[in-house]
Parts: sequence; structure tokens; C-alpha cells
Amino acid sequence: MTDQNPTAPRARAGAGGPSPLVVPRFAEPEPDAPRRRYAVAGTGHRAGMYVDALNGPHRDVGEIVAWLDRNPGRIDYYDASLGRAQGLDGPAGLPRYGADGLERMIAENAVDAVIVTTIDSTHAELVDRALRAGADVVVEKPLTTTAEGCRRIVHAVADTGRDVVMTFNYRYAPRNSSLREVIRSGAIGDVTSIHFEWALDTVHGADYFRRWHRDKESSGGLAVHKSSHHLDLVNYWIGDVPTRVYARGGLKFYGAENAKARGLWPRPERGTGSRNDPFSLDLHDDPRLAALYLEPETHDGYRRDGDPFAEGITIEDNLALVVDYRGGAVLTYSLNAHSPWEGYKVTVNGTEGRAELEVIERGAVIRDENGRAVLDPSATPEALGRSALRPEGERLVVQRHWEVAREIEIPEGLGGHGGGDAILLMDVLRRHLRTGDDPLGRAAGYRDGLRAVAVGIAANISLTTGQAVDISTLDLGEDL
Ligand SMILES: NC(=O)c1ccc[n+]([C@@H]2O[C@H](COP(=O)([O-])OP(=O)(O)OC[C@H]3O[C@@H](n4cnc5c(N)ncnc54)[C@H](O)[C@@H]3O)[C@@H](O)[C@H]2O)c1
Repeated sequence: MTDQNPTAPRARAGAGGPSPLVVPRFAEPEPDAPRRRYAVAGTGHRAGMYVDALNGPHRDVGEIVAWLDRNPGRIDYYDASLGRAQGLDGPAGLPRYGADGLERMIAENAVDAVIVTTIDSTHAELVDRALRAGADVVVEKPLTTTAEGCRRIVHAVADTGRDVVMTFNYRYAPRNSSLREVIRSGAIGDVTSIHFEWALDTVHGADYFRRWHRDKESSGGLAVHKSSHHLDLVNYWIGDVPTRVYARGGLKFYGAENAKARGLWPRPERGTGSRNDPFSLDLHDDPRLAALYLEPETHDGYRRDGDPFAEGITIEDNLALVVDYRGGAVLTYSLNAHSPWEGYKVTVNGTEGRAELEVIERGAVIRDENGRAVLDPSATPEALGRSALRPEGERLVVQRHWEVAREIEIPEGLGGHGGGDAILLMDVLRRHLRTGDDPLGRAAGYRDGLRAVAVGIAANISLTTGQAVDISTLDLGEDL
């Protein structure tokens, strides 16, 4: 299964099996029920998760009927994989379209739903147009990158009454839904404040500085692109809505100026072919990445492996936010994209005590004998010894006033600890077959998407003005 970003830490398998507490139940589809017809818009890395799901475990309920991308090389890649999954001698030969062909694609192929996995700044337009052309939408985070994009989606939903599913996969990681259950149980009383720190390491964090993410126009910066995951989690955990945001931050590690100041200059223009550099991503090392990005470069010049210390980066790598919530809670949040280890720590303070979730996804980024970063340090016994102080894992602890701390058991999900994608896919692709409501309330729609990006959009304004921003002044198209 294609999981997250290829540079992200891998989910680890646990000893037990998947728990019914987090893996929902579904009825079998009727034998003659028609399969839902999906088109995939944006055939880059992330699309693979949906393609694999509809080629594999969910092929009984859905099928891919068309592709849309501006790069025919990446469509070729997936069309060939679909052909193989169908046992054909060659590619599946599905109809293919460019962005201007979205409406035609929906009409010509009787598309029920468009899966939007293009770059962030294009989501609003594609969602709006797909809804108006008569299809539902499944959209990757972030919902959009601007207030105007929010308005556009809100109006399209209001005008068409169609469905927008937001795929917030982090909600489906059992540790995250467990923290929500602790808060909802009342064990820590009413939430007064949250302290949330997310650390991206020098492999995964660097990846946001290699390509379009590093351009604020394309991604909204990490406050939108990355933090929308985390800010959605806060909304989900405490069941509340953000109202006001103050942000500080900057580009302090990646980018040309920082590299020059630290004597790391000159830098290779791209990772591929630049040996022995821990910040480089060499596409030749991963046949899938090479096929998806290296060969298709000839069509649009899009480079997957740019240097994270390039000129012209317009996003932050250090962010600090203070966010007020309607119910009175306040969040202090920080994101760092050049940490030596990867994971997160969240503390939720309440009137009866506190809950603390600590997650280490990758204990260290180490270098091999040639100086290159090793993506999976657990593969190296020597590295495991070195990271004994920071073992990969997760711990959820609750401590009520006047009591000792107790650890809350986190149920096992699908695809290893931390993995949310497999359960998310069941919930998105088999939703009509659910045998009951999800007690964990994980399904998300466009309004959850709005509530998550609203904070990042306000943060971007705050970063430029130095002032706190009231979310109600953003005119997002509807009240949160
Ligand atoms: N939930 C997660 O954990 C997760 C993980 C990775 C990516 N994502 C999201 O998935 C989306 C795609 O990410 P990715 O890493 O696959 O990016 P990518 O750059 O690899 O792929 C994006 C694709 O969209 C195409 N594209 C760009 N603009 C287009 C346009 N105007 N019209 C048609 N096609 C266009 C590109 O050619 C490319 O094939 C992003 O929104 C990202 O935030 C989510």
C-alpha cells in the first residue's frame, strides 16, 4: 500500500491483530450492485493509495474509469499499473484528460466521484468544477490554500448539494482517536489548553522544500499544507472551532541564504546524481519515484528532487501559533521541519487533570558509510542501539488531579501503529455499507476541511502583519 510521503517514517506492525474498536464493520455489497465510478485527478505519488485500493481490496465497490493530469507520463504509469491489476497484456487504456477537460471527463464517463490529488492550490477550482459538473468529490488535504478557495467550495456545495469527503487520514491513526476518547470520557474535565509540538526530521521535513510545497502560492506554506493535518486533529480531539490566530515563524534552516550562512554552499541543483549528500533525494534509488517523476520530466519540467537549499523558497520551516477556540481553550502549537528525529507531543490540560500523547515515528536520521541519509534506521542494528534513548513508539498517559498517572492502551489499527490510511480508505470507499455510525466520529467533510485550513490561512496573514487574526474576518463563505 502506498502510504503517505515516501520519505515519511514507516508505520510499524504491532504484535496483536487489528482491534474492532478502531476498525469499523461493513456489510457485504449486493452481488449485482453497480460499482461506484471514480476518476483520479492528479496522478502523482498520493494518487497511488487510491489506485491501489480500487485495484485491490476495494475493487468490489468501486472502479477507476478515467484519469486527469497535465502530465501524460504520470498517467501512463498508473494506466499501466491498472492494466497489470486487470491481468491485461498492456495498459488499461482508460480515457485521459487535461485540467480543461474535467467537465467532459465527468460527462463522457458517467463519473460518480472525482478523487482530487493534484497540488494544493488547484483543489478549490477542481472541487468547484467537479461538483457543478455533477460529480461528488473526495479531496486530499488541505481543502484549499486561500480564503477565496474556501468561498468557492462553500458556494459550490450550497448550489449543488453534492458531497465533499475530506481525507483526514491522521484521525484514523488509533492513537489519535484514543486521545479523543480520553477527552470525551471526561477524565480530564473541561479542556482549558493544549500544547502541541510536531517535529519533522531532516529527511521528511526536507521533502517539503524540494518542489511545489516550497512555494507559498502552491501550498499555502506548511501552516496550510502540513499543519492542516494537525489543526484538524485539535478540532477533532476537543470538538471545538478555532476563532483567532497569532503566528510567528520563518525560513531559518532550508533555503539558499541559510545554506550560505552555514557554509553549505554551493549546493547541487537537484538530488538525483548528487552522491553522498544527506539532504538529497536521488530518484534513481526508488524505481517508483523514478518512473513517476524522472521520465515524465520531459513533459512539464516538474522536478521532484530539487535542492532544499535552493533560492526563492517562500515558506517557513519554523512555525509557532497561538490559537483561541470558541469554547475558551487556547492552543500553543509549533512545527519544526529540520529536527534530528520525527514525531509529536501533545498535552491537553483540563479542569480535572491532563492527557499526554507522545509519538516517536523515527528516532534518528543517520547517515550511511557514504554520508547519505538512511530512511529506515531500524534496518540498521547499530542505529537501533544509538537510538535506545528515543525508541520508536507511542504513549498515551492520563493523570487526574490527586491520582498517579496511568497509561491508556492504544488499540491496534490496520497497517501497523500510526497507520491511518487503510481504515480511512474503508471508510471512504465503503461508507454506504457501514453497519452503524462510527463511534469515533472520524469521517470528515468540507466543513472540517474549512476549519482546519482557516487556521493556516489566518496564520499566513498574521505572519505578514504581525497581528493576531480573527477567523471571522476571513470571509470563508460560511461561519465555521
Ligand atoms: N494525507 C496525506 O498524508 C497526504 C500525503 C501526501 C500527499 N497528500 C496530498 O495529496 C496531493 C498530491 O500530493 P503528491 O505528493 O502526490 O503531489 P505530486 O506533485 O506528486 O502530484 C500531483 C499531481 O497533480 C498534477 N497536477 C498539478 N497541477 C495540475 C493541474 N492544474 N491539473 C491537472 N493536474 C495537475 C501533477 O502533474 C502531478 O501529477 C496534495 O494535495 C497533498 O497535500 C496527502
